[in-house]
Amino acid sequence: MPASRRGSGAVTLPTGQTLAFHTRTQDEEDLPHATKKTMADHLRKYESLFTLTPQRMRMIVDAFKDTLEAGLEKHGNTVPMIPTYVFGWPTGNETGEYLAVDLGGTNLRVCLVTLQGAGKFEITQSKYRLTEEQKQEDGQKLFDFCAECLKTFIDQHVGEEPGMINLKPGAKLPLGFTFSYPCSQDRIDHGELIRWTKGFGNPNTEGHDVAEMFRKSLQKYDVPADFISLTCDTTGTLIASHYVNPKTKIGCIFGTGCNAAYMEKVVDIPKIKHLGIAQDAEVAINCEYGAFDSFEHEHLPRTKYDQVVDETSNKPGEQAYEKLISGRYLGEIMRLVICELIDEGVLFLGQETYKLEKAYAFDTAFLSLMESDPTDELLMIIGIFTHFFAVETTLAERQFFRALAKLIGRRAARLSACGIAAIVSKMGYLEEGCSVGADGSLYNKYPGFADRIHEGLVDVFGDKGRNIVTYHAEDGSGVGSAVIAAMTKDRKEKGLYVNV
Ligand code: BGC
Repeated sequence: MPASRRGSGAVTLPTGQTLAFHTRTQDEEDLPHATKKTMADHLRKYESLFTLTPQRMRMIVDAFKDTLEAGLEKHGNTVPMIPTYVFGWPTGNETGEYLAVDLGGTNLRVCLVTLQGAGKFEITQSKYRLTEEQKQEDGQKLFDFCAECLKTFIDQHVGEEPGMINLKPGAKLPLGFTFSYPCSQDRIDHGELIRWTKGFGNPNTEGHDVAEMFRKSLQKYDVPADFISLTCDTTGTLIASHYVNPKTKIGCIFGTGCNAAYMEKVVDIPKIKHLGIAQDAEVAINCEYGAFDSFEHEHLPRTKYDQVVDETSNKPGEQAYEKLISGRYLGEIMRLVICELIDEGVLFLGQETYKLEKAYAFDTAFLSLMESDPTDELLMIIGIFTHFFAVETTLAERQFFRALAKLIGRRAARLSACGIAAIVSKMGYLEEGCSVGADGSLYNKYPGFADRIHEGLVDVFGDKGRNIVTYHAEDGSGVGSAVIAAMTKDRKEKGLYVNV
C-alpha cells in the first residue's frame, strides 16, 4: 500500500516490521476508526485512575481530620498546624498605611496598602517574576532581592499625592511580610523555615529564622521599613476575607501550592498550653496541609504519574497532597501521561516530540485553556500543540486531551474539597455553614474549579455540603498582611504582644 500523504495507518515492511505513520495534515475523516476507538479505550483507563468516588473522599476526609488534630497535640508533625500568633479576628476598623512584601511561589510583590476602616482599603503594587535561578540561589541573596525591590518601590512612590507614600525624613513604614512556606513561629515577627516547598531550594535557609534574614537585607539596603509581622498567604487570606466578609471561617490557597488557615481556640491546642495564653483566646492556625500524607502515602490515591512527579522533584516524599492538587504539578502530570502514550506508539507517530519530553514543559495553564476551548474543532488545543510543541493533532486526539485535562483538573478540585471538609468537620461548621475565602491561580483561573469543589463538598457531606461556600478571597498577601500588621501594632501598644 503506498503511504498516503494524509491520514494515519500502518504498513508492513518486507522485513516483517510494522511501520506506523501519522502525517501532519489529516482531518478527522482521514482517521481510521480504530484510532478514535484507541483514544476512547485509553481514556477509559485514565478515567478509572483519576476518578475519586464519594466513598473514597469520605475516607480521605476522616484521615485528614485525624491528622489535623494530631498536629495540634504536639510539635514536629508532618502537617505542623502552626499557631501564627495572629489572635482573633480583625474588627474591620483597622486603619493606616502599611507596606506588604509577598514572596509567593511564582512572583514577588511589593505593595503599599492604605487601610481606610469599615472593611475598605486601597492598594498600589509592583510585581516581579521570580526566575528559576532565584529559587535556587543562596537564601540571603533572595532576601536581598526582596529588599532591593522594596527600596525601589518606596523610592518611586514617596510623594505628596494620593496613593503615594507620605514619609517624613527618618520615618519608617510598618511592614508585613508574607512568606508562604512552612515556618514554625515563637512570635509573630519570627519564623524558622521548616522546609522549602513549590520547587524552591535556596541553600542556607531551612532551619534559619527568615524574618531575621529579611531584616538583615532591609538594613543592607537601608529600607525605611519597620518589620512587624511574618505571615503565610493563607493566614493573610483568612484575615483579609474576614475583614470584608465576617462570615469567613477558613482561608485557602489553590495556586502554585495549596494550604489553608482557620481560627482555633487556644484551649484546643494542647501543644501551646505551657505558654499561658488566655484559654478563651483564639489564634489563627496555618495548617500547612499540603504536607498531608507525605512520606507514608497511606491515604491519597497516587497514580504512577504522581509517583514520578514526586520522585523527580527536589523534595521527594514531601508535600504529597499538594503534588496532586497544585498548579505547579498538574501540567506535569498531564505531560507524563502524554509521554507514556508517545512511548507506547499511540500518539504523534512519525513526529518530533522532544519538546514534549522536557520536564515541566507542559504548563498547567494549558489544561485550563483546553478545558475552556469553545470551538468544535478545538482550535485552541491545535494552537497549543503546534505553537509550543510543534506537533499536529487530530480532532480525536484533541478531544482526548481535553477529557484528560478534565480528569486531572477535577481530581485536583475534589481533593481540594477534602481538605476544606476536614477543617469543617473538625470545627463543626457544617450545620451553621460558613464562607471559605479562596485564592490562587487554580481557584481564580481554572474553569469550573470552584464548582467542582462545591460538588465535592456535597459528595462528602450530602446536601448539607451546600452550607459551605467558597468565594474569591480578598488579597491575603497584600491587604491581609497589612491588616495583620495593624492588629499586631495595636496589640503591642496595648501590651498584649506575645513574646516567648
Ligand atoms: C506552602 C504554604 C502556602 C501554600 C500556598 C505551600 O507550598 O507550604 O505555606 O500557603 O503553598 O501558597
